Amino acid sequence: MKLTLIMKLTVALLFALLLTTITAHAAGDAARGNELRHECIDCHGEDGMGDDEYPKIAGLDEAYIFEQLMAFKTGKRPNRAEMMLWTIEDLEEQDLADLAAYYASLNGD
Ligand code: HEC
Repeated sequence: MKLTLIMKLTVALLFALLLTTITAHAAGDAARGNELRHECIDCHGEDGMGDDEYPKIAGLDEAYIFEQLMAFKTGKRPNRAEMMLWTIEDLEEQDLADLAAYYASLNGD
């Protein structure tokens, strides 16, 4: 059976749509992260710079932040008094990606 042009176009279009969905999910939206950061400022500070007790998270690598958040959420990375776990356990993976994008966009110097 030969694929008609219209069928080929449909397949190409579906493929493109699929790709967009995957990328949209994986990429963090820093603007949305900015809206969620009220969950974080009590400990990490208004600007994510941390202090003697809490680590600086501003300006870290986006992929690194996301991996750490997922590790806290899934219990793979232990954390002091489980502070990170209980802070983010109700957040979705996309929220964590958005927060990672936001904090990575800050200047940590
Ligand atoms: C109740 C206090 C508290 C809150 C709220 C909090 N954190 Fe944390 N966070 C910590 C502590 C304590 C650590 C250090 C964990 C450890 O390794 O023991 C940490 C570590 C981290 C790390 C790892 C830093 C590194 O260098 O590996 C990231 C990333 C992080 N927090 C992001 C966030 C984000 C994003 C939020 C908001 C959703 C948040 N935290 C809210 C206490 C908090």
